[in-house]
Amino acid sequence: MRPERPSFTAAFVAACRGLAPLLPARAQLALDPYGMRVLGARAERWVTRLADAPGPVRALAWAPMLPMFPWALYMQVRTRVIDDAVRAFVADGGRQVVILGAGFDARGWRLREALGDVIVYEVDHPATAALKRERFGAHPFVRALRWNFERDPMPSLVDRLAELGHDRRERTLTLWEGVTMYLTPEAFSATLDAVRAYSAPGSELAFNYIDRALIDRPSVAATAVRAVVRAVGEPFKLGFAPDALRETLREHGFRVLRDRGFEEHARALLGERWARVVRRGRRIALVERTATVVRDDT
Ligand SMILES: C[S@@+](CC[C@H](N)C(=O)[O-])C[C@H]1O[C@@H](n2cnc3c(N)ncnc32)[C@H](O)[C@@H]1O
Repeated sequence: MRPERPSFTAAFVAACRGLAPLLPARAQLALDPYGMRVLGARAERWVTRLADAPGPVRALAWAPMLPMFPWALYMQVRTRVIDDAVRAFVADGGRQVVILGAGFDARGWRLREALGDVIVYEVDHPATAALKRERFGAHPFVRALRWNFERDPMPSLVDRLAELGHDRRERTLTLWEGVTMYLTPEAFSATLDAVRAYSAPGSELAFNYIDRALIDRPSVAATAVRAVVRAVGEPFKLGFAPDALRETLREHGFRVLRDRGFEEHARALLGERWARVVRRGRRIALVERTATVVRDDT
């Protein structure tokens, strides 16, 4: 990403979440009242007003922004699956959540009822984190760490988190949402090692990724998306075949608990009709930090 500028893609995905009240009721899976905040008060008011309008009026509102519709649906699925992972982790006694590349993720605010006094540590690029602080303000249980995954020394992440109060002896749930595709393979590997270093055994990591096939043999729509993200300085760099990813994770000391394509999640959460509109070639993995690392040195 461009070092001096807040992330464009972070603002885009937050806005997609913010548009959820304009979707058909069946497709509203995870409302995010903070989603439009990055676009300003006028945008927030516009969505709030339209949210109470009759269905046909809400449907008309999509006319000038039709290309956003599949993205808003996709974001509902992604947000809901990861929200559910957060709720399950906390219900199981988890007390620490780390969000890598937090962008305008509002879970520290939005899921507070489920989180109680669980501390959320947000790690993000300084320019994006600064804009978030300006728009979201402070929260007593949300702690921010300004960090560049490609420049800062990843092994020191464990100490920087500890300075904010993170305890590596306790289990942690790490969210790495909408980030892996923008990283080099080296940054991906170094981040996995850092997550392992600050995570006690039994900790979990939830992340989404692009299927390697979408990079090697992109559809017309995928080619267009790649051109846009490249133009805004945030090109897709990384994708995985699920089997290769499983092996990479194993080598870094993680075990796959679940790894499903969006179409599968979408069918379960939205039903067949709306699932057809959701973007293909993307997956969400939930993995567990194992007690030992198994590396093949052959
Ligand atoms: C698509 S956004 C996702 C934001 C958030 N996780 C969400 O899903 O709403 C990508 C995020 O990765 C962060 N990011 C990308 N490259 C980064 C880097 N090299 N160092 C730190 N953060 C980076 C951006 O600042 C941005 O917040």
